[in-house]
Amino acid sequence: MVLKLAIFISGRGSNMLSILKACENPDYPAEVKLVFSNRPDAAGLKVAQEKSIAVEVIDHKAYDSREAFEEQVSKCLKNYDVDLIVLAGFMRVLSDSFVKQWPERIINIHPSLLPEYKGLHPHERAIKDGKTESGCSVHYVTPELDSGPVIRQKRVPILPGDTAETLADRILAQEHILYPEAIKIIADSIDK
Ligand code: GAR
Repeated sequence: MVLKLAIFISGRGSNMLSILKACENPDYPAEVKLVFSNRPDAAGLKVAQEKSIAVEVIDHKAYDSREAFEEQVSKCLKNYDVDLIVLAGFMRVLSDSFVKQWPERIINIHPSLLPEYKGLHPHERAIKDGKTESGCSVHYVTPELDSGPVIRQKRVPILPGDTAETLADRILAQEHILYPEAIKIIADSIDK
């Protein structure tokens, strides 16, 4: 089965790019139908356009409520044939109602070994706690933030002298391997 993806971004889009690159392999079981952003200035949009991927932007700031914003997102998604929503640095919390419309069909990447360090500033918090290891997780999105079942993780050492930035860079390199692997796991599991 070839999974049809919508990748949601809010910024740089380096995870998006790693998935786009994986999809360039004809044997890889996914294709990107759409890159969506809630931020018109997201740098990743340009990267997607350069690769001739359809992009859509709905600026959340133009809507009074989360629900009104998400209604537009749902309308937009109807124009594309999408199996799986892939959150890749998408920094808007999705409402319970939106998440429930896509059961086990939204995944997210988070730069910690979930269930540790859910939410913001996971790198700072892990260093502050004196941890010697962190990592990254891809998980299903459920209504509770960063709490859905983990699909796959990678562990990354925290080294003496690490700052949030150096640790984030080391974890990000692993995220770029992890996300394509996790999507393949889902595609392969559907095939069985
Ligand atoms: C990534 O490190 C991702 O794990 C993190 O944002 C970064 C996005 O980078 N996501 C979260 O913290 C979600 N809670 P990218 O735009 O270059 O992929």
